[in-house]
Amino acid sequence: MKLGIIFGTLDELEQSDQGRGKLLQVTLLGQELVIAKLDSGVVAMANRCPHRSAKLHLGWNCGSSVQCAYHGWKYGSDGMCIEIPALPDGPIPPNAKATVFDCEVKYDLIWVRLDNTVNTEIPAHLAFDDPSFTCTMGIPYTWKTHAARRLENYTDLAHFPFVHPETLGNPDFVTFLIPDIDLQPPGCMRFKYEPPEGGRNGMDAAGNLAPLIYTDYTVQLPFGVTLDQPLSNGTRTIMWMWATPIDERHCRTFWFCCNDTKDPFDPMVPIATQMAILEEDIGPVESQEPEQIPHPKDEIATAADKVSLTYRRMLFELCKAKAAGPAALETLLASERNNI
Ligand code: FES
Ligand code: CO
Repeated sequence: MKLGIIFGTLDELEQSDQGRGKLLQVTLLGQELVIAKLDSGVVAMANRCPHRSAKLHLGWNCGSSVQCAYHGWKYGSDGMCIEIPALPDGPIPPNAKATVFDCEVKYDLIWVRLDNTVNTEIPAHLAFDDPSFTCTMGIPYTWKTHAARRLENYTDLAHFPFVHPETLGNPDFVTFLIPDIDLQPPGCMRFKYEPPEGGRNGMDAAGNLAPLIYTDYTVQLPFGVTLDQPLSNGTRTIMWMWATPIDERHCRTFWFCCNDTKDPFDPMVPIATQMAILEEDIGPVESQEPEQIPHPKDEIATAADKVSLTYRRMLFELCKAKAAGPAALETLLASERNNI
């Protein structure tokens, strides 16, 4: 499935010392890319020079073009070759063109669309666009797991007492309510997490130990989650994450912590809490084999796995829509976008 998907941060591009100037090499769905901030904006090209197939990320960002490190051919923002140093008077072969993908910067993230036959759009991140919220980006992280497994872990309520006994759960309070799930609009899954009575934990936005927080979950196909948490001090925290598939076995997660307090607020407190939680999750998640979600007969599910089973069904519906053609896929995803 080749949808518009996050791929790196603007900050990483600015600070990149790859190649010979502000070129970022990354992989999305197995496709190697080079990202460059040219005068005309941020561009994404296949990381391959069409001349003799050298990697473009080894080259130079020349401002209005990307120059290959091997024989110095230059490619403009539309991918067309504009200069061949060994042949100054031309002609430039008309098919001398680097492959260019749709690319856009939003939420300080770089989004790339590998398949432009489908009119996908960048997912909603309402807190980022709401001036009453302050949003801080967490450090993106790469895990050895498929993006769908990452999302399942993020929305798994039954693992709290075991994986997160110090932060999110309490092994002495292993009570678990199977949530009601709202599947409207299509492409979205919503449910609520009600903390068990007496289950302690977590830090609130002020850094105080707080009861595990009531949370509204919204899952956006294919790999996005928003957590909406009303805090005891009357403010709201919104966590937003998106898992990006590097390939079938690795994903990179981008995430934000947003809060609407008017008081001085140190975003590093909830960010640090979240990072402690991630450290606890990585072991069990990376131990899952295969990294991809397997055939249903290869794992055992119970009624307590309702969220993950529903999510897997949603992914199946997405694949069916993809097979039915661009119109079906666009309808499914547009419905989701417009109703978050
Ligand atoms: Fe890139 Fe020759 S391989 S210019
Ligand atoms: Co966890």
